[in-house]
Amino acid sequence: MRNPTKDQEMAMEWLDVGAVADLPELGARVIKRARPGLADVAIFRTQGETVYALEDRCPHKGGPLSQGIVFGERVACPLHNWQIELASGTAVAPDEGTVKTWPLRVEGGRVLLAAEALSGEGAAPAVPACPMSGNCG
Ligand code: FES
Repeated sequence: MRNPTKDQEMAMEWLDVGAVADLPELGARVIKRARPGLADVAIFRTQGETVYALEDRCPHKGGPLSQGIVFGERVACPLHNWQIELASGTAVAPDEGTVKTWPLRVEGGRVLLAAEALSGEGAAPAVPACPMSGNCG
């Protein structure tokens, strides 16, 4: 998702999902969605205090991106090593695909997530993740 304009940001509803300091640097934390059948939201933290919110589902075969390796502004999926751009949710070429992203803000050390992320609006239903063995056809 593109960054919202200031006016859009003012009109949005934001949820406090915790302190930046509680997110592991170069790691992620998962927020469960209330509505069943939707993939969870993964909040990633890069080096420093940059955070991103992505659907916790690899565009390849549904691997849990929150368990991948964060480096720079990307995460490597733990199943087959696709690299996903954290800002856009787009797979790095030659791979193709996109995972949903949501706006986040950091204010006073707190992470504010666009409320729409947890409502499930616009999200595709969850698909079963490939097992960690990566043997999923
Ligand atoms: S690379 Fe993520 S599921 Fe295959």
